[in-house]
Amino acid sequence: MDRKEQNIEGIRCMIGEINEKQVVVARTGVGKVNAAMTTMLLIEHFRPSEVIFTGVAGGINPDLLLGDIVIAAKTAQHDLGRLTSSGLKNRSAKNPIDGQRNPIFFSAGARLLKAAEVASRRTTFQPFQVPQGERFPRITKGIVVTGDVFVASEAKRRTLREHLQADAVEMEGAAVAQICWQQRVPCLAVRSISDSANADARQDFKKYYKIAAQNSAALVVNIVKQLHVEETLKVNETVGHENDPRPNAQDTPSEKYTPNA
Ligand code: ADE
Repeated sequence: MDRKEQNIEGIRCMIGEINEKQVVVARTGVGKVNAAMTTMLLIEHFRPSEVIFTGVAGGINPDLLLGDIVIAAKTAQHDLGRLTSSGLKNRSAKNPIDGQRNPIFFSAGARLLKAAEVASRRTTFQPFQVPQGERFPRITKGIVVTGDVFVASEAKRRTLREHLQADAVEMEGAAVAQICWQQRVPCLAVRSISDSANADARQDFKKYYKIAAQNSAALVVNIVKQLHVEETLKVNETVGHENDPRPNAQDTPSEKYTPNA
């Protein structure tokens, strides 16, 4: 990727292209406030057509193993709501722009989600060295929940699963999604499982976060490539097919894609 660097209010932004599609890459730092700040700065400055977050997460769904990847169909803040003696009842905040209540779950942009599914079948991932041997990541769609705590508790895992049907937990996704919802920018989070949010979480995180982060980023690069392929096909369809007299010339062309191009 050909890139140049720009500093926006202290946030280092890498500006470049992936397969001719313009991208801006920045690190949010940890937690909802940092994630919200960076997202808003980037939206304000670059006016992106979509936002994709990549990172690692703790696995909540027992079917998810270390190294697996969750494409977040939905995100929610697990620490936002009303706390009474019977526990936390999740509630959403109101959008200060229009006064409307936000949803508890933010849905991923439909086009992004579709592109992620296609890209996941075309990405070469690094294997994970786990005690049982070498393992390649499985990719699933799921619910990712966000809060300002690193979860290393079996009890909290159970609550997140029971109350929000969470598949994975992290500390930024729903904050990014809320900013995007309020700013009307389609958004997607991709998370690779670095730990199981249990008593071993800290050790597992230290051991696996790097390779997990690399696999999640590899998928995101291919999502961007897939978006570009779809955009190119759409342009060719409109430009090239309008006056084509052949039968079926107006039909959607079949997908073209070169993995790792
Ligand atoms: N990111 C990665 N693992 C996590 C965990 N266990 N809790 C919160 N965020 C995480």
